[in-house]
Amino acid sequence: MGKKSLVSITDFTKEEIIRITELAAEFEANPYQPILTGKVIASLFFEPSTRTRLSFESAMNRLGCRVIGFSGTSNTSVSKGETFHDTIMTISNYCDMIVMRHSIEGAARYASEISKVPVVNAGDGANQHPSQTLLDLYSIKKTQGTLDGINIMMIGDLKYGRTVHSLLQAMSHFKTQFTFVAPPELQMPEEYKMFLKAKGLSFVEKTEIDEAINQADIVYMTRVQRERFSDPMEYERVKNVYVLQNDMLDGTKANMRILHPLPRVNEISTDVDHNPKAYYFNQTENGVYTRMAIISYLLGAKK
Ligand code: CP
Repeated sequence: MGKKSLVSITDFTKEEIIRITELAAEFEANPYQPILTGKVIASLFFEPSTRTRLSFESAMNRLGCRVIGFSGTSNTSVSKGETFHDTIMTISNYCDMIVMRHSIEGAARYASEISKVPVVNAGDGANQHPSQTLLDLYSIKKTQGTLDGINIMMIGDLKYGRTVHSLLQAMSHFKTQFTFVAPPELQMPEEYKMFLKAKGLSFVEKTEIDEAINQADIVYMTRVQRERFSDPMEYERVKNVYVLQNDMLDGTKANMRILHPLPRVNEISTDVDHNPKAYYFNQTENGVYTRMAIISYLLGAKK
């Protein structure tokens, strides 16, 4: 395999997506496999992260890789004015893969075009978060037994939420039924709705969490992201628009599971955490196995 990056979930075929979930299951069964000993991976987080960075770095260590990089640019030459171009050109000389997060949409795509080594997008602005999507799919497959025909209700910030954008595109391969719940200001962008229409898939849009939740197999909650708003007043108006409470789950399917990419602010009440339908902390564990799968697949250690 030549240099293959993962910048958008659309960089992977349906078959590759399924393969990653299979590999993730293999890694979950055997989570210490030093099959990439000697490889060096750069972990470049220009934007804050807890789960994505640390689960990627855990995955790298479990695969036997060495990890270099930074979390925040204050101690790098970016703070002296070095350009993004020069930073990537330099670091791609030091490693076998770059995993990067950046606040600017398209930053990871640009890096993949100039880098000598594969680039994995760990989130670029409001655009894409493909490794999150793959761990979400692994979580759905584990809990529902299939990826086909899932009824998913996506709730919250569907405008700026990069996780829902990537997930929508990936689930379009699997005859998914979508319900979008968002306030008018934060609805799913037109380009993603057009994407579904072009694939012959229908969706329902709502502004309230109503009885449709009782038909869902997966409830995918998202945070209203303060960092994406240019107008603080607009953020204040919508920040607590949906709060999932335990009693709202009473009529839901027995096997329904609640996912959330996290971090959470107020959108899931902590009394939900003890409900067996809450799956978001298990989901974070699945991130390690899925990221082991992504790295080993892109570096050719697993086919
Ligand atoms: N899910 C997610 O991207 O979390 P972090 O921002 O903590 O990496």
